[in-house]
Amino acid sequence: MNVLVTGGAGYIGSHTCVELIEAGHQPIAVDNLVNASAESLRRVAQITGKEVPFIDGDVCDEALMEKVFSENEIDCVIHFAGLKAVGESVEKPLAYYSNNLTSTMNLCRVMGRHGVKKIIFSSSATVYDRDNTMPLREDSKIGNCTNPYGWTKFMCEEILRDVAKADKEWSVVLLRYFNPVGAHPSGLIGEHPNGIPNNLMPFISQTAIGKREKLSVFGNDYPTPDGTGVRDYIHVVDLAKGHVAAMDYLCSHTGEAVFNLGTGNGYSVLDMVKAFEKANGVKVPYVIAPRRSGDVAVCYADPAKSAEVLGWHAQYNLEDMCRDTWHWQSMNPNGYDK
Ligand code: NAD
Ligand code: UFG
Repeated sequence: MNVLVTGGAGYIGSHTCVELIEAGHQPIAVDNLVNASAESLRRVAQITGKEVPFIDGDVCDEALMEKVFSENEIDCVIHFAGLKAVGESVEKPLAYYSNNLTSTMNLCRVMGRHGVKKIIFSSSATVYDRDNTMPLREDSKIGNCTNPYGWTKFMCEEILRDVAKADKEWSVVLLRYFNPVGAHPSGLIGEHPNGIPNNLMPFISQTAIGKREKLSVFGNDYPTPDGTGVRDYIHVVDLAKGHVAAMDYLCSHTGEAVFNLGTGNGYSVLDMVKAFEKANGVKVPYVIAPRRSGDVAVCYADPAKSAEVLGWHAQYNLEDMCRDTWHWQSMNPNGYDK
């Protein structure tokens, strides 16, 4: 299958391109490189021995997308392109609503005109209402989001659900990711955050390599076993493989379906620090800092539906996640920058 991968040069997009190629598919990437480097796709070619055709452009540019669909034989779309920094979305809500919603709506319009009606969308555990009990199931309550980024994911889900409702030929799969971490075991591709990392794992690895002095642990007074926040960390290669499984589903079903991509295991911030130190024989200095506003105490998935319907489950464990993060970080201290 020829798969248009929007945001294909990004963290999850580049890993998914590898898994698509390994499963016999042909990805075509479009990315405006607002948060990525084209080097990631050169590395994908190095890993797989196959080039990924790349269009450097904005998914919000409907004329460009029209051209992409006219010039390429596309069977389905995986839509990763989007802005994703929670804090930045609070400061620049219009940039987030505009980019994330316009890209999704333009993409669907162009797809419809070209009779391509199969889409996988990158959603997030952030769409779940914070008052749910754990673990989160696909039918747990959604909404009540705490930031504009979360609302863009919630709204894109609603838009795509309505598209599938209005035209029965559409097939829409909404994948709700938990906390993607790690990197391809080759160490050639991984996460390359811009500036100071917002997320835990890149902050840990940059601290271990000496780029950051110490990790601030945001709160140790949560109602969790060690008082620090608990999340469902998932290896990015498992996440990427989840997209390949979702594509098989997409091609044999119509309508809308939603799946959690998580492991079902919750680990605390201090569990992550200890696991990283043990797996890699390094030190991660940390201090306890105040809670970060908007954080929940605990968030983890019930991945049973993905296992049952997609036949997918995570295979990498916490040690693998820590080892592969460090392998990428130590092989590429400056990410894709020289
Ligand atoms: P990323 O920033 O590495 O990838 C997103 C890519 O989209 C980037 O390469 C960026 O340059 C590109 N992009 C953004 N707007 C674009 C536009 N208008 N046109 C073309 N390209 C555009 O992030 P990621 O971690 O790989 O996330 C991929 C998707 O998964 C995003 O939609 C994100 O919101 C979602 N998601 C990520 C996480 C996470 O923790 N990483 C969790 C849940 C959901
Ligand atoms: N944390 C720290 N110190 C840091 C960074 C994070 O203690 O420097 C803690 C947080 O307080 C939280 C845990 O580590 O308890 C994980 O934080 P992340 O920022 O790595 O991840 P979040 O769960 O907050 O958010 C992630 C993505 C969001 C997505 C959400 C749900 O960043 O985009 O998962 O899918 F919406």
